[in-house]
Amino acid sequence: MKILGLSCSPRKEGNTMTLLTQALEGARSEGAQTEPFTVSGKDIKPCDSCRACNKTGECTIKDDMQQLYVKFLEADGIIFGTPVYFYGMTAQAKAIIDRTISMGRPEKSMANKVGGVIVTAGSMGIVDALKDLYFYMVTRQMVPANYVAAYPRGDLKQMEKCMKASYDLGRQMVHIANRGFKYPTEFARAGFAYGTHTL
Ligand SMILES: Cc1cc2nc3c(=O)[nH]c(=O)nc-3n(C[C@H](O)[C@H](O)[C@H](O)COP(=O)(O)O)c2cc1C
Repeated sequence: MKILGLSCSPRKEGNTMTLLTQALEGARSEGAQTEPFTVSGKDIKPCDSCRACNKTGECTIKDDMQQLYVKFLEADGIIFGTPVYFYGMTAQAKAIIDRTISMGRPEKSMANKVGGVIVTAGSMGIVDALKDLYFYMVTRQMVPANYVAAYPRGDLKQMEKCMKASYDLGRQMVHIANRGFKYPTEFARAGFAYGTHTL
């Protein structure tokens, strides 16, 4: 059982990572192996729409996303963590999501992985980031777990409710993943994010 905590904040030790660390501790308390991954200092370019992955299933951009693809595939659960930047997820989070368009093949997909979300913000925009991340999970046939929506004030570690909610998210991820839910393959979606009712 592996739970990956992905921080899409450019701040290595910021609020998002504080809560992710707590969530991973919760996951460990339920017996999972955990791994944090931060975009801080990483080179993750946006999708360039070359469409090569349609044919090969491989992304041609050789940057740090290549190591994240491996971690995504190995993980049973992924916690997406992002601060809110102008009423949405960070550019880094969006770049990662877009780059998973290459993960459309059954042997290389995000399907059936449990997904949790941690969003932090100063005041506004949390719901926008949350709904985008959950809709992403729907399109990838991931299994949604809870979210933590935090407005950090002062020392985040003293915000007991946030810290407990994050810890419990990690625990819940393990419990859900242990149930081994699998989407019926009959209804598998294509690797694309396009609409399905255009014809
Ligand atoms: C470029 C930028 C844009 C931001 N936009 C918003 C915003 O639209 N709404 C909001 O509530 N907070 C906004 N914030 C504040 C961050 O979401 C908040 O400080 C967050 O907790 C930072 O998380 P981190 O420490 O993990 O990076 C913004 C911060 C930056 C740097």
